[in-house]
Amino acid sequence: MQAVRLRRLREKEFIRDWVSETALHPKHIILPYFVIEGRNIKKEIRSMPGVYQLSIDNVLKDLKEAYGIKAILLFGVPKTKDAIGSESYKKNGVVQKAIKAIKKKCKDLIIMTDVCLCGYTSHGHCGIVRGKRIDNDETLKILAKIALSHAEAGADFVAPSAMMDGQVKAIRHALDKKGFRDVGILAYSAKYASNFYGPFREALDSVPQFGDRKSYQMDFRNAEEALREIKQDIDEGADIVMIKPALAYLDIIHRAKEKFNIPIAAYNVSGEYSMIKEASGGDKTRERNLAIEVLTSIKRSGADFIISYFGKEVGKWLC
Ligand code: PBG
Repeated sequence: MQAVRLRRLREKEFIRDWVSETALHPKHIILPYFVIEGRNIKKEIRSMPGVYQLSIDNVLKDLKEAYGIKAILLFGVPKTKDAIGSESYKKNGVVQKAIKAIKKKCKDLIIMTDVCLCGYTSHGHCGIVRGKRIDNDETLKILAKIALSHAEAGADFVAPSAMMDGQVKAIRHALDKKGFRDVGILAYSAKYASNFYGPFREALDSVPQFGDRKSYQMDFRNAEEALREIKQDIDEGADIVMIKPALAYLDIIHRAKEKFNIPIAAYNVSGEYSMIKEASGGDKTRERNLAIEVLTSIKRSGADFIISYFGKEVGKWLC
C-alpha cells in the first residue's frame, strides 16, 4: 500500500491553490516607464513589443490601467545628450516634471527613479569619461545631484544604477544634508554586465559608443562578489537591494535572501521580457503562462519585489 501520496494535495484545483507556497501579487511588481518630452507621444520600442516611450500625459493615462500596481520606476529620455549628462539633474528635466505631475494625480503611488547617466550622455556610458576610463569619484558627484533633483521633485525612492563604488553613500549623504531623510534608496547592488540589456538600450538610445560596461558592472562568472556588493550597499545605507538581471541569476537572489535581512528586488530585464514575447509568438495565453511562471520563479527564489515590463498585464491577469 502506498501511504505517502503527494498527489493527494495536487488532485483538485482549490486544494492546489490552498497549499501553494508562493503568491504573486501586483503589489510585488514595480512597473518601469520610459518618459519622453512632448505631448501625446506613444512610441513603441521595436525590440520590446508592448513597451513604449510615453510623454507625461500618456503615462498618466496608462497608470489608470495599472491595476494593483503600487510602485513605478521612471527612466528619462532627454531632449539632448552631452558628455556629462547635464539634462539628468535639471529642475525641469523630463523625469523631474514627470514626478511632479504623477504625484499630483496619484498621491499614494510610490515613485522610484533610476539614477544613472547612460541615458543622458553622448558616449552612452554610466559615468564621466576621462580618457577611456570611467571616473568613479567624479561620477558620484553627478549621481548625488541627480538624486537630489528627483527628491526635490517628490520621488519616494531613488535607484542608483551606475555601479560606481560608493554611490549609495554619496547619495544618502547628499539627501540627508538637504533634509530628505525619508527618501529611500533602492540600490542596484548586484548588477551584472549582461547581454540581456540590449532592448533597453534601444529604448534609451544608450549603447556605449566605445568599449563596454565591464569595468563597472559585474562579471557574470561571480557570485561571492555579488554578496560583497550587496553587503557594501547595506552598510552604505540602502533600504532595498537589487539583483539584476533576474532569470539567469536566481541563485544570486536565493543566496542574498538567505544571507541578508533586507527587502530584495530583482529586475526582470528587457531581454528577458523580449524572450518571452518571442517564445509566445503572439499567442496571448502562452505569453501569460510563461510570464507568470517566470515571475513566480523569481519570487520563489527569494525576491520580495520584481521590476517587470509585464506589470500592467500582471495586474489584469491577477486582479
Ligand atoms: C543602466 C541601466 C540598464 C538597465 C537599467 N538601467 C542597463 C545598461 O544599459 O547597462 C537595464 C534594464 C533592462 O534591460 O530592462 N543604468
